[in-house]
Amino acid sequence: NRSLRVALLGAGSVGSQVARLLLERADTYEVRVGARLELVGIGVRNLDAPRDVDLPKDLLTSDIDALVDGSDVVVELMGGIDPARALVLRSLERGVDVVTANKALVAAHGPELRAAASASGAMLLYEAAVGGAIPIIRPLDASLAGDRVMRVMGIVNGTTNYILDKMHREGATLDEALRVATELGYAEADPTADIEGFDAASKATILASLAFHTEVPVASVHREGITGVTAETVAQAEKDDQVIKLLAICERVFADDGSESVNARVYPALVAKDHPLAAVHEAKNAIFIEAEAAGDLMFYGAGAGGVETASAVLGDLVSLSRRRVAGGQALHPGVSAHLPVAPMSAV
Ligand code: NDP
Ligand code: HSE
Repeated sequence: NRSLRVALLGAGSVGSQVARLLLERADTYEVRVGARLELVGIGVRNLDAPRDVDLPKDLLTSDIDALVDGSDVVVELMGGIDPARALVLRSLERGVDVVTANKALVAAHGPELRAAASASGAMLLYEAAVGGAIPIIRPLDASLAGDRVMRVMGIVNGTTNYILDKMHREGATLDEALRVATELGYAEADPTADIEGFDAASKATILASLAFHTEVPVASVHREGITGVTAETVAQAEKDDQVIKLLAICERVFADDGSESVNARVYPALVAKDHPLAAVHEAKNAIFIEAEAAGDLMFYGAGAGGVETASAVLGDLVSLSRRRVAGGQALHPGVSAHLPVAPMSAV
């Protein structure tokens, strides 16, 4: 029976859930993929660190190089640029497929990684890098590839949305709410990335690059975080029937001579309480796309969280494994008839 050796890098909030689900659903994925997804090791820094999930000890390793070199697929959930960049790059250059949730890496080194993938024929998927569980990368990259996107805007950072929501609805302070968001696994390893808007700016880079078929450098994204939001600014917004939301806005802009360029910005904005974005609570994200032919599209769901993000990571893993097994051809190998169809009933 065929199998694909999966190396998982990271067993934190997301990685531990990916490992759990890969082990629990091994038989299901074997049917879906046509090959067994064999978790051959989980790379971590500290073998004895406490984990969210009780993982088999013999799978944990700190020898990341050996793990990566002995695999058919790498799932990178360490975060940060170093050593993630070198490990992902080396895998892609060897023709090994990679799934990552690392928006900082994709935003800063996307062109280099894509070039390595295309030179070797490897696949690089990163659906979890923006919007957590929300499918947004593939809709932009594939479903809307024939359209002309005019604007992508919304809430793309769960931690800051959680903090602002708690400041508005419960009178929490930024520090208190950040502490809870960190405990819930929403925040980055260094939460400065969340509250100073770096994480949202990385996501804006990725969204804008896909939407407008160009490379938008992360340094070109205007960025303001939420550290200037105080109890007073929240109270004033409430008085004016508004809420403060950290927004990412990426759009085509037109000069007088008719030339076009891309503008991307991240900043805390005042949103009227009757606007749909005002109803995006906790660590949820919402992204609106305006496209010339498709019109307005709206994407909503869990923007952060270990198990929620694991859904997007595993979706990428199953998709690219299917393609690998089918010889790079089909994304959908056909219906696998292992679930019986229930008799028709009223819903
Ligand atoms: P965590 O900080 O919770 O976990 C990181 C894991 O990677 C830990 O297990 C850590 O090992 C391991 N690790 C880090 N550096 C190294 C290294 N140099 N060598 C070996 N192992 C290393 O991160 P998250 O799970 O929260 O996030 C992972 C990725 O997913 C990030 O890129 C993040 O931006 C992205 N992401 C996160 C979401 C979330 O809601 N948390 C949502 C969407 C994307 P050890 O445990 O031993 O310290
Ligand atoms: N720290 C990120 C957030 C994780 O809060 O949105 C999801 O990308």
